[in-house]
Amino acid sequence: MAKKYSSLLLFLLLLLDSLPNFNASPEYSRPPPRPAIFAGPTRSKSEPEQVHISLVGKDHMRVTWITSHKHETSIVEYGTSPGNYDKSSMTGERMSYRYFFYNSGEIHHITIGSLGPNKTYYYRCGGNGPEFSFKTPPSTFPIEFAIVGDLGQTEWTASTLEHIGSKDYDVLLLPGDLSYADTQQPLWDSFGRLVEPYASKRPWMVTHGNHEIETFPIIYRHGFRAYNSRWLMPYQQSGSTSNLYYSFDVAGCHVIMLGSYVDFDAQSDQYTWLQGDLAKVDRGVTPWIFVLVHVPWYNTNLAHKGEGESMRKSMEELLYNARVDVVFAGHVHAYERFTRVYDNKADQCGPIYMTIGDGGNREGLAMMAPSYSKEEFDPGSEGTLAKL
Ligand SMILES: *[C@@H]1O[C@H](CO)[C@@H](O)[C@H](O)[C@H]1NC(C)=O
Ligand SMILES: [Fe+2]
Repeated sequence: MAKKYSSLLLFLLLLLDSLPNFNASPEYSRPPPRPAIFAGPTRSKSEPEQVHISLVGKDHMRVTWITSHKHETSIVEYGTSPGNYDKSSMTGERMSYRYFFYNSGEIHHITIGSLGPNKTYYYRCGGNGPEFSFKTPPSTFPIEFAIVGDLGQTEWTASTLEHIGSKDYDVLLLPGDLSYADTQQPLWDSFGRLVEPYASKRPWMVTHGNHEIETFPIIYRHGFRAYNSRWLMPYQQSGSTSNLYYSFDVAGCHVIMLGSYVDFDAQSDQYTWLQGDLAKVDRGVTPWIFVLVHVPWYNTNLAHKGEGESMRKSMEELLYNARVDVVFAGHVHAYERFTRVYDNKADQCGPIYMTIGDGGNREGLAMMAPSYSKEEFDPGSEGTLAKL
């Protein structure tokens, strides 16, 4: 076990690192939300935009981008030196979606590989436009993760992203609430542009939060239209039948992305899948197991109190029996970390629970003090004790 710990450098990028005057005292005054950012288009209509990458299997990468024109070619050219693309791929899919009067651009998902570990690749999407580059994660320890939830798109988001970008991490993990578009589809495009400088360089592995749901009675009953089209994750590779929950392995870590807003009871597909997924883990290959889920199962904040309780009751035992190491959650716009816990009692064999929902979205930070008054804090915002 000692080796396991020393060999993994788990690097957590937390917004609180970058907050001025942070201290844990009750007098800590939370900085108010900052203005929203809208990132408009900066390239010509035929050029790719909103480029981001995600891991697929052991040594492949999915490259995702959007073009306004429907007829652009879905090709990724790539190689290990700038401007020199000795390989290319057209393997993948393209899609677009409608949401009321909004028509998305053409969303291209192309998988490239096999790729070497811990290696820089240069690539170009659609045969034109700018060159991008990324680094693949290493195949062995150490590996570094950046983990952040509830990102949104404000000036705080920009500061979080800058902080993330200043580190040479390997993989970004995001437990839900990405764009805060909340059905305003152009905000999904803005979010894609805002994160591109980061998400085109390192794989971003995400799961959904409540801000991704976007259901509408009768017309869009199942929701997740924008999310599933734009943030396609490698769910098939882990035997999942839904983009809303999946798992993947990277350098000795098994990472499980759960869905807070899909069925999780003992009869559900998600539950059955999770059971099977945990049973397959070989701790000799992946000594670490991490779980990400949007709504925290343990939470001392007043915000969202009890919301994760039914999912905890359903699935906690599975994680406990599988000896999951850490569970990361978002939703509550705060940072907190629990000791190892199982069924509300400290337990050496339980996972550590961490909330990292302080990515910088427009709703601001969650209030813990019962005396919190919304007006005092920020008259302009939606408040954080209300539904998020
Ligand atoms: C990845 O590459 C860097 C730079 O070449 C090297 O310093 C590092 O040790 C490598 N990491 C692993 C896990 O191989
Ligand atoms: Fe949330």
